[in-house]
Amino acid sequence: MAHAVYPGSFDPVTYGHLDVIKRASELFDSLTVSVLNNGAKSPLFSVGERVNMLRDVCRDIPNVKVDSFSGLTARYVQDNGFDVIIRGLRAVTDFEYELQMAQTNRKLAPEADTVFLTTSLEYAYLSSTTVKEVAYFGGDISKFVPHDIERLILEKFELRSRDGQQD
Ligand code: PNS
Repeated sequence: MAHAVYPGSFDPVTYGHLDVIKRASELFDSLTVSVLNNGAKSPLFSVGERVNMLRDVCRDIPNVKVDSFSGLTARYVQDNGFDVIIRGLRAVTDFEYELQMAQTNRKLAPEADTVFLTTSLEYAYLSSTTVKEVAYFGGDISKFVPHDIERLILEKFELRSRDGQQD
């Protein structure tokens, strides 16, 4: 039995993440998608909101669970006995950071290996940051995120502009 974890920010989950989630769930016995609770960043969605969004879009994939964690990925991996860390690679620009992270995690948690899935070409350009920027300026994000997530992003930006927040 191989248990994989896909850690990330998922702020918010996109079709690119979902593509990686579906493919990883077919490769491993179980997959836990886990949202990093990173106090240093100022995300659009709270950890709880991101967990709920992931649960919603993964509801039809039986071997996928959604969780959140704080601190080091390597420690979380060890504490939960994961065998594999999943990361998506979109383009060569992702590679240096991802390699550094994989090698650091392997030093800290040698019992787990990182497996990279190359993002399907149709999503190779996609990032949560781009989605938020397009939505912020009123562009159409329906090709980037599932419908339920699109609605939540638009609601969030409406609320923010009503409250007078700029970012
Ligand atoms: O979706 P992201 O933002 O690319 O995910 C990055 C993530 C959460 C996987 C990475 O920042 C991470 O593992 N953070 C936890 C802190 C940690 O373990 N740092 C050492 C690895 S270099």
